[in-house]
Amino acid sequence: MTAPLIDPFARAITYLRVSVTDRCDFRCVYCMSEDMTFLPKKELLTLEELDRMCSTFIGMGVRKLRITGGEPLVRRDIMTFFQAMTRHLDTGALQELTLTTNGSQLERFADALYAAGVRRVNVSLDTLNDDKFAAITRWGRLPQVLRGVDAAQKAGLRIKINAVALKGFNEDELPKITEWCAERDMDLTWIEVMPMGDIGNENRLGQYWSLDDVRATYEQGYTVTDLAERSGGPARYVQLEETGQKIGFITPLSHNFCESCNRVRMTCTGELFMCLGQEDNASLRDVLRANPDTEEPLRDAIRAAIERKPKGHDFDYSRQRLDGQMSRHMSHTGG
Ligand code: 5AD
Ligand code: SF4
Repeated sequence: MTAPLIDPFARAITYLRVSVTDRCDFRCVYCMSEDMTFLPKKELLTLEELDRMCSTFIGMGVRKLRITGGEPLVRRDIMTFFQAMTRHLDTGALQELTLTTNGSQLERFADALYAAGVRRVNVSLDTLNDDKFAAITRWGRLPQVLRGVDAAQKAGLRIKINAVALKGFNEDELPKITEWCAERDMDLTWIEVMPMGDIGNENRLGQYWSLDDVRATYEQGYTVTDLAERSGGPARYVQLEETGQKIGFITPLSHNFCESCNRVRMTCTGELFMCLGQEDNASLRDVLRANPDTEEPLRDAIRAAIERKPKGHDFDYSRQRLDGQMSRHMSHTGG
């Protein structure tokens, strides 16, 4: 073991989110344009390089690994990578291996994910209406995702549903989605939509729906109690007394959790982002490729990057584009 990763503000970095592809089989209107251009394959880390990267981070104290995309399960042979990470769960070095998925491939992969040691999965799902689902994801079909959710539960995976809150789109479905999650014993988190990437201005399907308003909508039908607990991440939680459910709220760019931030993100090209709200990043891929036989230079590059992890992104809104958009796509940085 090498010394653990501690940033300049004494935060231990124990959580790595890794995007394994920028591709997706859906084209959600708030995430991608219909004619997205994707990265050439040679830019991507190979599965072996992903293994080296993640294993190096785990050797430096990362305890939780979340695989994201794009849609991680559309990456060819991605199960090989999950299976390779199992060894770190077996030694206890890694405490949790998890993923964020749109659910389209879960029917196919649920059992293999469980066998690889995955126990929890976040599934992105904004509506339970077939037509609305097709409209918001453009290429997605709800029944396929519902079969995936079934398969995952049957395999023993615990599911959290992530729903992007869109006014005039899924506002009316709040009770339905909430009850569906309660019936199936799935956690539910609402995510505030944020403007990301250059995806055109075609988001007529839904508008910004602030999570304060989502909370107020809950109060119309339920007794809502704020919970003090934090998961070290951006979510706040409330409890619905009637169902006992815990509902999460994520404001992606809120900064009230920065002081406990334990995470960094790596893109599918091996760029390390120390903060979701800032553009500063370190390219680890070139270091990795230049040193096929030793991880020491990679560890040095990781340490140097963590030394630059900012205190919080509220200090740096100036680096966002003038129109208030992040110039990166979520599918690149991985949510
Ligand atoms: N705003 C909020 N959430 C987004 N996601 C993708 N784009 C956006 C956006 N602009 C979410 C997806 C999924 C995760 C991968 O990121 O819904 O939950
Ligand atoms: Fe794909 Fe998720 Fe983006 Fe939708 S939000 S296009 S499912 S990566």
